[in-house]
Amino acid sequence: MTTLPLFGEEGAFYQRDRVWHPPANTPGYKSTTLRAPRHALLSLAGQTKSELTGPTFGHGILNPLDNDLIRNFSQDGGEAIGQRMIVYGQVLDENARPVRGTLVEFWQANAGGRYRHKREGYQAVLDPNFGGCGRAITDDNGYYHFRTIKPGAYPWPNGGNDWRPAHIHFSVFGHAFAQRLITQMYFEGDPMIWQDPIALSIPDRSAVEHLIAKLDRHTTTPMDALAYRFDIVLRGRRSTLFENRPEGN
Ligand SMILES: [Fe+2]
Repeated sequence: MTTLPLFGEEGAFYQRDRVWHPPANTPGYKSTTLRAPRHALLSLAGQTKSELTGPTFGHGILNPLDNDLIRNFSQDGGEAIGQRMIVYGQVLDENARPVRGTLVEFWQANAGGRYRHKREGYQAVLDPNFGGCGRAITDDNGYYHFRTIKPGAYPWPNGGNDWRPAHIHFSVFGHAFAQRLITQMYFEGDPMIWQDPIALSIPDRSAVEHLIAKLDRHTTTPMDALAYRFDIVLRGRRSTLFENRPEGN
């Protein structure tokens, strides 16, 4: 993978590698045709100082149950239905440095494949004790973790009978707000990944494999939860200028 700094050496973000990432218009994933740019992209001079040095997240914004999707929407003290698991991993920048103190958000369907969303069209039932959203802040080594249930596969109106494999959506902020990444995580061994029009919009199979969480038998909670590991690598910044900057400054 080739990467070039967007500008300068200090404070620069790496540019997206458009060979590694899927083309904006992938007809097998129908909605991309409508939203793909029709004109050549404009190159901006660079990020503004506020984007490069903007505020970071404080640990105080989190509720203790924010990273426990089994209980964080509970209506009556009950717990979400489904196969219980821990999802964890390390957020790294492109220079393999841990991204500490950053906000990781995740959202998913319930065990039946149903989202709690007013425009949801799938008939699988809602779980009264499952909301499907959570968040965590990475620790000093860049690790996040949360507890949840395995989401179900669900159908979607793309090609008549397309189904999404079980997946969890992620949003990650890197060193600054300008680095936000949104992606999806799949599960090791799921044959449906290779029938998914969204996963197949990625031209390089090894890039798809970077989106597949690995079953980790060493991190399971005995008699309680399986564990999957999903590491996330962001485009990095070459500068170490803010590496030891006090939080919030
Ligand atoms: Fe989804």
